[in-house]
Amino acid sequence: MTDSPAPAGSGAPSSGPGAAGIVAVLILAAGEGTRMKSSTAKVLHGFAGRSLLGHVLAAAAPLGAQRTVIVVGHRRVEVIAHLAEIAPQATAMVQEHQLGTGHAVLVALDAVPADAPGTVVVLPADTPLVRTETLAELVEAHITAGAAATLLTSAAVDPSGYGRVLRAADGGVERIVEHRDATEAQRSVTEIASGVYAFDHAALRDAVGRLSTDNVQGEQYLPDVIGILVADGQRVVAVTADAPQTAGVNDRVQLNAAHRVYNTGLLEAHMRAGVTVVDPATTWLDASVVLEPDVTLLPSVDLHGMTHVAAGATIGPQVSLTDTTVGSQARLDRTVAHSASIGAGVTIGPFAYLRPGTVLGDDVHIGTYVEVKNSEIGTATKVPHLSYVGDATIGAHANIGAATVFVNYDGVTKHRSVIGDHARTGADNMFVAPVSVGEGAYTAAGAVITEDVPAGALARSSARQQNVAGWVARRRPGTAAAAAAEAADAAEAAEAAEPSEERDQR
Ligand code: UD1
Ligand code: CA
Repeated sequence: MTDSPAPAGSGAPSSGPGAAGIVAVLILAAGEGTRMKSSTAKVLHGFAGRSLLGHVLAAAAPLGAQRTVIVVGHRRVEVIAHLAEIAPQATAMVQEHQLGTGHAVLVALDAVPADAPGTVVVLPADTPLVRTETLAELVEAHITAGAAATLLTSAAVDPSGYGRVLRAADGGVERIVEHRDATEAQRSVTEIASGVYAFDHAALRDAVGRLSTDNVQGEQYLPDVIGILVADGQRVVAVTADAPQTAGVNDRVQLNAAHRVYNTGLLEAHMRAGVTVVDPATTWLDASVVLEPDVTLLPSVDLHGMTHVAAGATIGPQVSLTDTTVGSQARLDRTVAHSASIGAGVTIGPFAYLRPGTVLGDDVHIGTYVEVKNSEIGTATKVPHLSYVGDATIGAHANIGAATVFVNYDGVTKHRSVIGDHARTGADNMFVAPVSVGEGAYTAAGAVITEDVPAGALARSSARQQNVAGWVARRRPGTAAAAAAEAADAAEAAEAAEPSEERDQR
C-alpha cells in the first residue's frame, strides 16, 4: 500500500479473495457532524462530484458484498433521498439516537441475517479517501489470518482526534483508546485506528452486544470491540495503510485537505494515462470525468459530471465544463459550457459561454464574447465575435457576422431561427424568430431579419444612409469636432489647389 492515492472505486478488483464471504458492508452515516457547522448532513458534503458517503460507497462497491447497509440518523430524509439516487440497492437503517459507533453497528446488524457466516466490513462514512485495493487487502489479510477482527491503521503525522492503537509488548494489538479518553502517554502514540474494520460476523455480533458506555462521551464505541475480542483471547490483527487514505473528515479544513489529496491522485492517474496537466494546483476534476490520451489541460480548469474530452483536445486556460463532450483536437480557451456537445477540431474563445443544448459540428469556430444556447451549428461554420445564438439551427460552412443577435424570445414564447448552409450574414444582424435564411443567402450589415430570406438572395433592411453636409459647423460651432472638420476641409482645399506635378512627385 505504497501507491499514491488514486480515484476510489476505479480499476478495482471485482472480487477479492473470499469476496463471496463478505456478508455485509456496513457504513456508519448517522452522526450529526457538528464540526462542519452546516445545515447539510456531513456525509452529504463532498468533493469531485461525489458526497463523502458516495466516495465510501464507490470504494466498497467492488468488494461485491452480499448487502450494503447504511446507518442513517441525523438529517436522514436528505441522506435517504441521496442514497436512492446513488445506491438504490443499499439498505438504510435508522439509528434514532446517535449513541455511538458501536450502537450504530448494532442497528445495522438488524439488516443482516444473524446466522450468515462470513466477514462484515465496517466503514465510517467520513473516510472518503480509502481505496478499494486497501479494503480488498484488509479482507484478504483478515481471512488469511482467520481473525475475529482486522483493523485498518496508519501512522498519522498528526494523530490528534483519532483513536490510538495500543499494542502489547509482543507487538500484538491490545485495544483502541479514543483521543478524548487517552492519557498523555497514550496520546503520544501515532498509530491511529482508521475506523475501518473487517470482522467475523459472529464475533462482531457477540462483542458489540457487550459494549459499555463507560467513557468521556458516554457512548458505545465500536473500537472497544477490539479490546473485548482480545480479552476473549480471539485473534485480532492490523493492516496498515498510508496515512492520507485513512484521513477522516470532521470539519471543512479536513474536507479541503481530503479534496486536495483526492484531486492530486486523480490528476496523477490521468497523467499516467497520457493526459498533460500543466498546473495541478489549479486543475480540479470530478471523479466521473473522462479524458482521452493526449488531452492537454492548461491552468485553471475545472471539469464536472459526465464531461468527456477526446484525444488531442486542449482545454484552458480558465475553462469550466459540466456534462460536456469535447471532440478530438478541439481547443477551448476561457470557456464555460454546460450540457454542450462540441465536435472535433472546434475552436472556442477566448470568452465564450455554451449553455445547455448547444451542439457544435466539427471544425466550428466560436469566437470572443459569444453565447450559444439550445442551438445546432453545422460543420465549419463560424460565429466569430460578440454574438448571441439562441434556439437556432445553423447549417454548415456558414459565417455569422459580428454582433449578431438571434432574437428568440417574444416575451412569452421562444422561437427558432434557421440559417442555411453557406449563408453569410452581415455584421450587427438581428434574426427575429421564427425566421429562416436560405442556403447561400447573404444579409447586409445592420439587417433586422423579420421575414424568411430565400436561398441565394441578399436581404437588406436598413434605410439608405443620408449625409447632412456642414451639420457640425452649423449645429455644434466651437466644439473640437467642428474644429477638426474645419481643419480637414482646409487641408482638402489646399491639396486641391496644389499643382498636379508637385503632387505626383511626392
Ligand atoms: C472515529 C473512531 C476513532 C477513529 C476515527 C477515524 C469511534 C468511537 N471513534 O472517531 O477511533 O480513529 O473515527 O476517523 O468510533 N456515527 C453513527 N452513529 C453514531 C456515531 C457516529 O453513525 O452514533 C457515524 C458518523 O456519522 C461517522 C462515523 O460514525 O460517519 C464516525 O463518527 P465520528 O463521530 O466522526 O467519530 P470520530 O470522532 O471521528
Ligand atoms: Ca470522524
